[in-house]
Amino acid sequence: MEIIIRKNADAAADLVAKITVKAICQKPNLTLGLATGRTMEIVYDKIVEMYKAGKVNFSKCSSFNLDEYVGLAPEDENSYRSYMNKFLFDRVNIDKKKTNVPLGMAKDLQAECMRYEKSIASSGGIDFQLLGIGTSGHIGFNEPMSSLNSLTSVKALTKATIEQNSPLFPKPEMMPRRAITMGVKTILNSKKSVLLATGDSKADIIAKAVEGPLCAAVTASALQMHEHCIVVLDEAAAKNLKMRDYYDWVFNSEPEWEEYR
Ligand code: F6R
Repeated sequence: MEIIIRKNADAAADLVAKITVKAICQKPNLTLGLATGRTMEIVYDKIVEMYKAGKVNFSKCSSFNLDEYVGLAPEDENSYRSYMNKFLFDRVNIDKKKTNVPLGMAKDLQAECMRYEKSIASSGGIDFQLLGIGTSGHIGFNEPMSSLNSLTSVKALTKATIEQNSPLFPKPEMMPRRAITMGVKTILNSKKSVLLATGDSKADIIAKAVEGPLCAAVTASALQMHEHCIVVLDEAAAKNLKMRDYYDWVFNSEPEWEEYR
């Protein structure tokens, strides 16, 4: 894991947007793994700005989203498909036919999970995975005690996640209690992953995920096993980290990061 701490949420999102755009420029037919959530909104805004400035072309990219709520149709305004259309797909030149979000309305949810996982595999796997983290420690919707070896599956959401996300629904009780999510193993199989966390509310869980033991109680800790994971934080989310000086030193001395300092 490489940990990069930026002074505020805007600077952290800016770095993630730039890393993403660079990955697409290096491999125009990149398979992107995409996340939703409040943290990502500003990243997509920044990616769209770069697209409008002619710095990136999505025409050959394909994408797979991490998750979708069970019971929400793609056209439901609270679905993650709608979120993606609003924040990214409708604003750039990605071919929507090459964008994938699990079908939360599927009659046979197990079959949908298997279809999604196979579809990721037959696309050649995810090259570049964007991630947020929930206050429960989830990546995707892999709640505590999810198998660290899991593939795409249906997960019951925790109280912490319901508290985190229900304010985003017109009425809190409208939030579904289950979701389809890529598994922890699906995420670990991606070639590169970038997790963004900002704000005080993420400080405790980031310290556990990054510097704590690898355990199913904090599924994000499994990223310690990822072959190339970058964790980008703002000061607030980083405040409980113990090895802060080391992370800063690496960022300020490694040639790889020179263009972003
Ligand atoms: C969403 C997802 C989740 C979110 C996490 C953080 O697709 O996979 O893991 O990234 O719940 O959400 P925010 O950014 O709203 O705090």
